[in-house]
Amino acid sequence: MSGPETTPAASVTVRALVARGSGAELRIERVRLPAPGPGEVRVTITAAGVCHSDLSMANGTLAARFPLVLGHEATGVVAATGPGVELAVGTPVVLNWAPACRACWWCRRGEPWLCAATTAPTVPRGETDDGVPLHLTLGLGALAEAVVVPERAVIPIPAGLPPEQAALLGCAVLTGVGAVGNTARVAPGESVAVVGLGGVGLAVLAAARRAGATTILAVDVAEAKRDLALAAGATDFLLSDDRLSKEIRARTEGRGVDHAFECVGRAATIRAAWRLTRRGGAVTVVGMGAKDDMVSLGALDIFHSARTLRSSVYGSSDPDREVPVLAAALADGALDLGVLVSGTVGLDEAPTAFDRLARGEGARWVVTLDSASGRNGVVGLRGGC
Ligand code: APR
Ligand code: ZN
Repeated sequence: MSGPETTPAASVTVRALVARGSGAELRIERVRLPAPGPGEVRVTITAAGVCHSDLSMANGTLAARFPLVLGHEATGVVAATGPGVELAVGTPVVLNWAPACRACWWCRRGEPWLCAATTAPTVPRGETDDGVPLHLTLGLGALAEAVVVPERAVIPIPAGLPPEQAALLGCAVLTGVGAVGNTARVAPGESVAVVGLGGVGLAVLAAARRAGATTILAVDVAEAKRDLALAAGATDFLLSDDRLSKEIRARTEGRGVDHAFECVGRAATIRAAWRLTRRGGAVTVVGMGAKDDMVSLGALDIFHSARTLRSSVYGSSDPDREVPVLAAALADGALDLGVLVSGTVGLDEAPTAFDRLARGEGARWVVTLDSASGRNGVVGLRGGC
């Protein structure tokens, strides 16, 4: 136990990556986080990935409230606990952006990724240094030196994992592994196409390889993704152009793939994934697209193709159960996520990581925070709770 009863945690001022409005320049600002209340913890962030969903919130593709702290894919260490919390200070954790309430209709039927309590894309919490109410991406706002979240939004992991890899367990990797294993249930020997090779698509690809898929076709608009895709486990790389369906059929005895995964988040790529799937196959939409980007499919085609079209929210996973399994695999070397990490930057350089993501460069860019040295640590304390 951490002894929070004897040392009440204070509210803190930390540095965070903030978007002041849709399309506004991203800036590092000081923000005030409340002291952890009952059932809450403060986590000092050690690494946070830059995911396309953060970019989509910042640029208006997804609805968001501002000012907004970006980030939802992170790892860190419990630094303070509120009353009634059992986790000890010092526990390494991964953040969970869909913490299950375990009481709603969806949780009770075993679908915690659809928990009724976690539907808001941005959650109000804390304030900017100039006193404006702040919002947090997916209830976390993890591109910051610290977060204050419910205890159920953190998952303990073993100590000593490489932080830039452990961070990815909280979104891209859990999503990828879950989309393949839980949603699509890819079986050994099946064929797979992955459209969109960012951190999420490459995680899907690597998971398909681990699941025993034998034909793994990686698709992107950027030729520069070829080497990354092959390193992550693709058997072939194809450019997303007019010849795509033909090229896919040439590699699947004329049928199309058993499973297509859409990892871009656009109607056009959902249509492309649909077209390159075989009759009776399945399209799994992993990308998170815009509300008004409409997908049009022919009524006869839907009937005749006998395809399944479904989405995979957070990999249809129970993060509390599945993140520890992935973390253990990372700890014993059975899982190596090195290929997914294109590079690390400090918090001050986080806006440049967003620029790279927007240009489609690399796999995942991860912001690492040197909390131990205090350089990126908590910079100010404000009163008690
Ligand atoms: N066809 C194929 N690939 C495309 C296309 C297209 N028309 N348009 C873009 N891409 C590729 C980009 O070149 C890039 O490699 O899709 C990839 C997207 O990668 P990232 O921007 O790194 O996105 P990522 O973080 O992987 O997220 C992908 O999943 O979680 C959701 O909101 C997220 O919708 C986003 C998706
Ligand atoms: Zn994400």
